[in-house]
Amino acid sequence: MNAQSARLPANRVGLGLRTAHIDQIINELPDVPWFEVLLENHSAKGGLVPRQLAAVREHYPLSLHSVGMSLGGVEPLDMDYLATIKRMVKMFQPLQISDHLCFTHYGNHYFNDLLPIPFTSESLRHVCNRIAVVQDFLDSRILVENLSSYLQFEASEMNEAEFINELVAHTGCGILLDINNAYVNEFNHGCSVRAFIDTICFEHVGEVHLAGYEDRTDFLIDAHNNRVSDAVWALFEYYARQSTGAPVLIEWDNDIPALDVLLSEAIKARCVIAESTDSEFTDATC
Ligand SMILES: [Fe+2]
Repeated sequence: MNAQSARLPANRVGLGLRTAHIDQIINELPDVPWFEVLLENHSAKGGLVPRQLAAVREHYPLSLHSVGMSLGGVEPLDMDYLATIKRMVKMFQPLQISDHLCFTHYGNHYFNDLLPIPFTSESLRHVCNRIAVVQDFLDSRILVENLSSYLQFEASEMNEAEFINELVAHTGCGILLDINNAYVNEFNHGCSVRAFIDTICFEHVGEVHLAGYEDRTDFLIDAHNNRVSDAVWALFEYYARQSTGAPVLIEWDNDIPALDVLLSEAIKARCVIAESTDSEFTDATC
């Protein structure tokens, strides 16, 4: 398997590439070290077109993120979907490819949500087999992202972090650590984020996501429609003090604000990294 030879810049904070900002980014070339492209945003009607992506790729490294691999699903893998990813990889040479530990379709139903799976030895074997097929087909390692969920399974035999570590050990995949997702789970289910972070194998974390949730009082929704919360910033600092320098992404997918708002969130993340690490990375704005 071909791991991408180049890597996203360590400890640098990228942004999700959104249609609302594309013209400004192409015209102004803001100081952003990398962008993440959501496959569904590219392929959807009104989404980014190849000409726009090529213009961005000319100036910035990219990662490719998707929500439809359905790595935890029981239906056969959608090889047409994977072929679309493969075409995107060939065209735009993203430095990382990622999706989620979840399932997204069953029968003829394609769900808008990323749905959780039980963490059992049986599902571990199943997901490992699917990740192996995906990585072989794409000829590349993928990163698997922890999920925000709204239910848990009594059948689970291990926690999510342990399950993800096992995926890494058996398939050679990497980890996309979404700290907001873990915080949403802590609020909704009472499972400790710090225990989650302490369990994850840091050396295999290839990317970190930071996002804002929607507070419904009794529970949180992982809506990606807000600034990163104070609680998640504190957890990011906890992670950054121990991390091995994975690139970080500010995710914002709904109620998308002006690009300056995203840039200000990225600066905040850069400052947390600069203050939390002894790395050579420094930032004059902090
Ligand atoms: Fe995420």
